[in-house]
Order: sequence, then C-alpha cells, then structure tokens
Amino acid sequence: MPCLRSTSSHSAYKVLHSGKLLAALNFELTIYKYLCNIISLAEAGGGSIVTIDLLNAEKRQPNIEELLAKCGYLDLVDFYYEPVSYNWRLMKLIEEQKTFDFCYLDGGHDWYNTGYAFFLVDKLLQPGGWILFDDLDWTMEHIDAKWALKKPLEERITPQVRKVWELLVQTHPNYTNFQERGSWGYAEKIG
Ligand SMILES: C[S@@+](CC[C@H](N)C(=O)[O-])C[C@H]1O[C@@H](n2cnc3c(N)ncnc32)[C@H](O)[C@@H]1O
Repeated sequence: MPCLRSTSSHSAYKVLHSGKLLAALNFELTIYKYLCNIISLAEAGGGSIVTIDLLNAEKRQPNIEELLAKCGYLDLVDFYYEPVSYNWRLMKLIEEQKTFDFCYLDGGHDWYNTGYAFFLVDKLLQPGGWILFDDLDWTMEHIDAKWALKKPLEERITPQVRKVWELLVQTHPNYTNFQERGSWGYAEKIG
C-alpha cells in the first residue's frame, strides 16, 4: 500500500503493520497483489483479516478462496459472502465482540450501505485504529444496469461515499486526522 507509507500517514501504516484488519471489499483478480500486500502486512504483525462481499462474488473466477490458496494465506483470512450487505455480517461481528485496528471499505458505494457501515464499523474499531473509504467520488451515473437506472437521478449523480465522508465521518467526535489521497479518504479513531 504505497500511499499509506507516506510521512503524513505513517500512523496508518503502523496500524496496518500490527493489526487485525476488517476489509469490506471485493475479491476480484485485479486486487490479487493488493490483497496479498495487505495480508503480508497483517501477517508480519501477527494479525489477521476479515473480508466481506456479496454472495455472487463466490462465483467469480478466481474467487477469494482460490486467490488466498494461491498465495498461501488461506489461514490468515476469514471471508464471508452475504446475500444482501456486509452490514449484516458487521452485526454478527459486533455480537461476537470482535475488534479491529483497520477497516478498508470498498463496496456498496451508496449512502445507505456506507453510512450505516460507518456506524457499525465504529463499534468494531479500536481507539487509534483507522478507517479507509475508497472511491470517494464514485457515482452510478455511468452504470447501464437495471438496478442503477431505477434509482432517482439525484442519487445516480451524487458521490455518495463523499457524502458519508464529509457529513458523517469528518463531523464525528470519535475521529481525527482526516486525510484524502486520490480516491481514498481515511481517518483515525481517537485513542
Ligand atoms: C468496486 S468493487 C471493488 C473493486 C476493487 N477495489 C478492485 O480494485 O478490484 C466493489 C465490491 O463490493 C462488493 N459489494 C457491493 N455492495 C456490497 C454490499 N452491500 N455488501 C458487501 N459487498 C458489496 C461487490 O460485490 C464488489 O466485489
């Protein structure tokens, strides 16, 4: 994760180096190296990773299980496929009283999923941990699929992750050290 190695975000890099990671992300081939980089950081610090995606991600070729097996990290990662949203799994993680040092949120880029996920992740994040939102300015405007086309125009053209970042995260009393790098926004939970 080169961006997290810069001086101003050294603390985030340190967290990645030492922590348990909650990655609500994707299992696509494009992230193969990226995922392995994150996992190797967690491994070096004696940590582990939880990832959550939708049910249909299981059918991808290769899927998360195959990718992890290829890079020898099957034991370090708990992966979950959810029928509706990562938010259901986050409820279970809260019930199990799990805690995490870092959360990378890159899925369900809308106000409903992301805003609620932030509330839930806050309950799981340790003080001093970090949350990272990907695709701050992503919109569904260009998506030519039925699910997107039936949304109101205002929702289709609004960068909804940025709304969460600006209206919920940056105003939240538990968070500090707000940083933006490219499409990422990340913040530290006050220790
Ligand atoms: C934009 S892709 C991530 C792409 C990835 N960063 C890459 O570079 O390849 C978003 C992922 O989030 C998953 N996703 C979307 N909505 C979700 C939700 N509500 N709960 C869990 N996963 C979701 C999708 O299945 C997809 O794998």
